[in-house]
Amino acid sequence: MIPSKKRLSPVSIGLFISLLALGIGAPVVAEDLSDNETCLECHADQARPEPENTDRPRVHNEDGSFAVEDHEMWSCIDCHEMITEIPHPEGINGSDVNCENCHDTTPTVD
Ligand code: HEC
Ligand code: HEC
Ligand code: HEC
Repeated sequence: MIPSKKRLSPVSIGLFISLLALGIGAPVVAEDLSDNETCLECHADQARPEPENTDRPRVHNEDGSFAVEDHEMWSCIDCHEMITEIPHPEGINGSDVNCENCHDTTPTVD
């Protein structure tokens, strides 16, 4: 005979189904794109190339850290505006950042 406490009561089965319907316990949690940790889960160990526009100073050092301390406080998506979902489509250009969203003119290499 099966001990009764090993059987799920109809009430707990019902509760389980309604929690699933609410998305609680579902494997995928909506990701906060403005949290840099979300991005760094995948991009932390990736080398950052030189900017395509060679008149522009680097924003990232090759190891992914920031060349200018003032940039550390921003969200990745303040600059990488085209990233609106994860996973993102292929062929995104990391250099496609508009400096003039924050700067009066695009900074140049001295
Ligand atoms: C689940 C893993 C994952 C997460 C999380 C993620 N990315 Fe990506 N990202 C990728 C992959 C894979 C590519 C395309 C392949 C590649 O070139 O590295 C890519 C490409 C890019 C590129 C284009 C540059 C390149 O290397 O081709 C940028 C910029 C970028 N991601 C920024 C972000 C930002 C900003 C966030 C956070 C909002 C983010 N990513 C979150 C996996 C991820
Ligand atoms: C101040 C603007 C700015 C911020 C903030 C910023 N980036 Fe970038 N990112 C750039 C620019 C510009 C490039 C092109 C290379 C360069 O100029 O250093 C780039 C390049 C990249 C690349 C490589 C793209 C390629 O073509 O392979 C990745 C990946 C990336 N950034 C991820 C991130 C992540 C993750 C964060 C947040 C921790 C972040 N970026 C924050 C401006 C920014
Ligand atoms: C989301 C806002 C934001 C974006 C986008 C942004 N910056 Fe900045 N950056 C700042 C702030 C804020 C400072 C510190 C105040 C200042 O110097 O204007 C700064 C400072 C700098 C500095 C050091 C000070 C100076 O002006 O010489 C450089 C270099 C720089 N940014 C380069 C860039 C480049 C290149 C881009 C585009 C690829 C860019 N930034 C995009 C916010 C931004």
